[in-house]
Amino acid sequence: MEDKVLIEKAFEARERSYSPYSKFKVGAALLGKNGEIYLGCNIENAAYSPTNCAERTAFFKAVSDGQMDFEAIAIVGGPAETQKGEGDFCAPCGVCRQVMAEFCDPKTFRIILGKSETDYKVFLLEELLPLSFTKEDLK
Ligand code: THU
Repeated sequence: MEDKVLIEKAFEARERSYSPYSKFKVGAALLGKNGEIYLGCNIENAAYSPTNCAERTAFFKAVSDGQMDFEAIAIVGGPAETQKGEGDFCAPCGVCRQVMAEFCDPKTFRIILGKSETDYKVFLLEELLPLSFTKEDLK
């Protein structure tokens, strides 16, 4: 799967962002090792704290569908008026990084931050969440 295809899918997911409070729209496209792409958007709530990030929406959809092995995630986001190619890269929050650490290999899982299909950066999970606490620590 090409990075640009995943980024395109993340933009598609961003269209469905429910973010009336922050007006910050995020989309994510998570690639499973089964070849499926799971889309997610941020979903806000009047009580604020029930808000779910786009990345976690994608992960929870995948896991609840029985997929627990992943290759990469593309993330795009910014203020509602931000168009493709504008604004900043949208990095995943700490909680989403921790969810990634639960299911993904830190040395191979790729996190693609896109402004557009041609303007993007790629990180490994171990770069964005060094010294993580995982199920290995509970053994
Ligand atoms: N948000 C995400 O969905 N993913 C991120 O990586 C950063 C933040 C959402 C949460 C909230 O709905 C809005 O963006 C502003 O924080």
